[in-house]
Amino acid sequence: MKSIFSLLLCFLLGFNIIMDGETSNENVIPENEVELGELLFFDPILSKNRSISCASCHKPEFAFADTLAFSKGVHGEATKRNTPSVMNMAFRPYFFYDGRVETLQEQAIVPIEDPLEMHLPFKKAVKRVRKNTQYQEYFNKIYGTSPDSTNILNAIAAFVTSLESNGSAPLDVWMFGKEDAMTESQVRGRELFLERAKCFDCHFSPDFTGDEFRNIGLYNGKDMNDKGRFEITKDSSDLGKFKVPGLRNVALTPPYMHNGRFKTLEEVVEYYDDPTAFISDPINIDTLLMKPLNLTDQEKTDLVHFLHALTDAKFPHE
Ligand code: HEC
Ligand code: HEC
Repeated sequence: MKSIFSLLLCFLLGFNIIMDGETSNENVIPENEVELGELLFFDPILSKNRSISCASCHKPEFAFADTLAFSKGVHGEATKRNTPSVMNMAFRPYFFYDGRVETLQEQAIVPIEDPLEMHLPFKKAVKRVRKNTQYQEYFNKIYGTSPDSTNILNAIAAFVTSLESNGSAPLDVWMFGKEDAMTESQVRGRELFLERAKCFDCHFSPDFTGDEFRNIGLYNGKDMNDKGRFEITKDSSDLGKFKVPGLRNVALTPPYMHNGRFKTLEEVVEYYDDPTAFISDPINIDTLLMKPLNLTDQEKTDLVHFLHALTDAKFPHE
């Protein structure tokens, strides 16, 4: 049951954004690597002009996602893909929509260096953190050495790994036997999700992803031209495939899909009901989605209500 029962971390102190990149948050003294990673995650010291942090795009109040179709990096330019939630990453075998990295350590270097995101050579980021007297003290206390390219990434990865759902979503409470935790509509929505609507065929496991790459029809080689997993494998059977995202807290993270194409969960469900009614010329779409589901209006509503039952009652950082 992995993430459901995983440790509920207690973040004792809130966080203030620091304007002066030389000093990090003076009120928070990290006690362990998770808290140290937390400091870095919220610290603009890792971006070129010290204007944004990881949390500028992965916002705690939206389950560590963003509510823009595309977030803005240090130069005000848009990211290439929609910012996903970084909760429930602990058990993921790879990261990014195309799965191009396999560890959270490798992952963290990418946004720091990406010109559309933080745009700071990782070496420089390490230098900055090393020069900062507070970080020196904290790293020495926690790791017994100065900040370096390994322990900085370990700290960030430890923080991201700690952002697990804690079994407080209505579905979890219902599963533990409290029958009124979900409405009747949500219970019907769950049935549909598991069976007739076929959602669970791709969104399985406690986090509602099987960590596979699938193509739901959002690639046509024209106006929708992100080839997804194909960019990594160059295998034509991977054209238009994206990592199946987990669905915990999905109600908090509109818009949806790698390209932020759908603004609401209602639209997402409309789409799955009949993908070709939206996109007539998909390439390599999954066979599961080739026939319309023909859901009734009530069934669509039930499915949307069920997706709302995946929202945690409590979040890290609240
Ligand atoms: C400018 C916005 C932005 C910033 C800043 C940013 N990210 Fe992201 N993050 C994204 C986007 C967009 C993606 C998806 C990119 C893709 O899949 O190709 C992403 C993906 C991720 C993922 C993978 C999620 C998954 O489901 O595979 C993790 C983990 C992550 N970011 C952590 C971080 C960390 C740690 C930092 C700071 C060092 C950071 N991000 C900074 C926008 C941002
Ligand atoms: C064939 C596998 C497959 C099936 C079946 C499927 N999904 Fe998905 N789902 C995916 C993939 C892959 C993505 C990511 C696609 C992208 O970003 O372009 C996704 C994305 C989503 C998202 C957006 C998540 C986000 O954070 O942007 C939601 C919501 C969702 N699916 C719900 C459902 C529901 C509800 C059903 C059943 C009606 C369903 N899915 C059926 C594979 C599937």
